[in-house]
Amino acid sequence: MTRRFEGKVALITGGARGIGRGIVEAIAAEGGIVGILDRAEDLAKEAAAAVEAAGGRAMAFGGDVAHRETFTAAVSAMKERHGRFDILVNNAIWVRYGPIADITPDMLQRMVGTGFNSVVWGTQAAAEAMSEGGSIVNIASAAAFIGMPHGMIYAGVKAGVLGLTRSASAELGPRRIRVNAICPGSVPTEGVRINVDPEKVKLRIAKTPLQQLASVEDIAQAACFLASDQSRSITGESLLVDGGATHAFL
Ligand SMILES: NC(=O)c1ccc[n+]([C@@H]2O[C@H](COP(=O)([O-])OP(=O)(O)OC[C@H]3O[C@@H](n4cnc5c(N)ncnc54)[C@H](O)[C@@H]3O)[C@@H](O)[C@H]2O)c1
Repeated sequence: MTRRFEGKVALITGGARGIGRGIVEAIAAEGGIVGILDRAEDLAKEAAAAVEAAGGRAMAFGGDVAHRETFTAAVSAMKERHGRFDILVNNAIWVRYGPIADITPDMLQRMVGTGFNSVVWGTQAAAEAMSEGGSIVNIASAAAFIGMPHGMIYAGVKAGVLGLTRSASAELGPRRIRVNAICPGSVPTEGVRINVDPEKVKLRIAKTPLQQLASVEDIAQAACFLASDQSRSITGESLLVDGGATHAFL
């Protein structure tokens, strides 16, 4: 097992379950000190306890990523405790899909707040705390590239995250802070089980060139690559992890 994150300090939003939790476990398994920031504080504490039980180091933070103060509090607590701050993974989002006619102001505000504003506030807090070698990884989506019926807000938010990623990389590059994005295709997590019809998932697998969905571990390994110095010459990039589906559908 490599130890790419030995002594490094990382904060993962939405790290209590799903893809975020997979990223938490993968970074911790390679020596990283992980902060788990999630609205589901009890689950975040459980995830932190599981990391510690496996011999890693973790802190849990409850809070809503739509708010700037949530990030300033978590990032400064990690920096104060460990003396450095190296990696931010912006992963959390609250999602609902539905026809355009059913969109409500509350839905729009929550999705933009958790999926877009959070990346702005996270980037701001992380950029202030990071020194040379810092890495920000934004979890976007293949939805940023395709027309998605019933997903107008989601696809728009994720396309916005890609724009934000490129601009942040251009601004922070001279400080040797990198900013990249991952665009997962459909990954079987609880969020997907709530939102997506199982028949549609089967159809998606059948149309995917590699004939399988990417797993949480696949996304976590891509995140580890972009968070680590192995990708030191890559910034402003977005990486599709989708079994080839997006290019095949287009
Ligand atoms: N699962 C997929 O198929 C898929 C595909 C493409 C992109 N993604 C992206 O990957 C990321 C993770 O997806 P997932 O399927 O693991 O999601 P999930 O719904 O399983 O988990 C999301 C986590 O974020 C937390 N969260 C939600 N709102 C929050 C808030 N306001 N403040 C703090 N924490 C909050 C939840 O408590 C939860 O722990 C998301 O950005 C999602 O858009 C997922």
